[in-house]
Amino acid sequence: MKNEKDDNEDKKDGAENNVPLQGLTRRGFLTTIGTGAVTLAVSDKLHATPAADAEMIERGEMTKVVLNINGRKYRLLVEPRWSLLYVLREQLGLTGTKVGCERGECGTCTVIIDDVPRYACMTLVVEAEGTKITTLEGLMKGEELGPVQNAFVEQDAFQCGYCTPGQIMAVEGFLRKNPDPSTEEIRNGMSGNLCRCGAYKHIVNAAKKAAELKRL
Ligand code: FES
Ligand code: FES
Repeated sequence: MKNEKDDNEDKKDGAENNVPLQGLTRRGFLTTIGTGAVTLAVSDKLHATPAADAEMIERGEMTKVVLNINGRKYRLLVEPRWSLLYVLREQLGLTGTKVGCERGECGTCTVIIDDVPRYACMTLVVEAEGTKITTLEGLMKGEELGPVQNAFVEQDAFQCGYCTPGQIMAVEGFLRKNPDPSTEEIRNGMSGNLCRCGAYKHIVNAAKKAAELKRL
């Protein structure tokens, strides 16, 4: 795949392009079949043209987007087919977001988009324009861990650690909506994130601890 990194690292502030993601929660997202269907549902850019007149996009053709990631704006040239996961990791070097199944099943790639946990592998980068994206790097307070990260360390909520970045982002997103959840609510809220090591009990305890730390 062509590397446009040099072009893409122009990080000057620019005008925002509001492409809303209204009504699309992670749960709703999970029931949608495939990235293409999601795109047609939410992207003004891609459904503005009637299908019969739709312009063909050639492989390698680039389009401009401005992304707001962790409070910083990035002007990028992207291929419309690129996922947010690919752009975060391969174009911007934000490797805190991990690659797992790349098919919307494991939750390893979870990021927060407009306060809702979303799978970055199932989100086209053009969909994410005009939203506020938070990645694992955005939870840091300078060199210090944020409260959810600290709670995972304190509760020993990982074994191999591969799912952990996604679990942390799911907890962060969940607690933004429900700052004082019950155990059952945590289990339901975290159901989109799998842990092959089976550390679920500790992960639930970490979510409870994170809620406490966030209230301090
Ligand atoms: S890598 Fe995105 S859900 Fe598995
Ligand atoms: S800690 Fe190993 S997959 Fe979750």
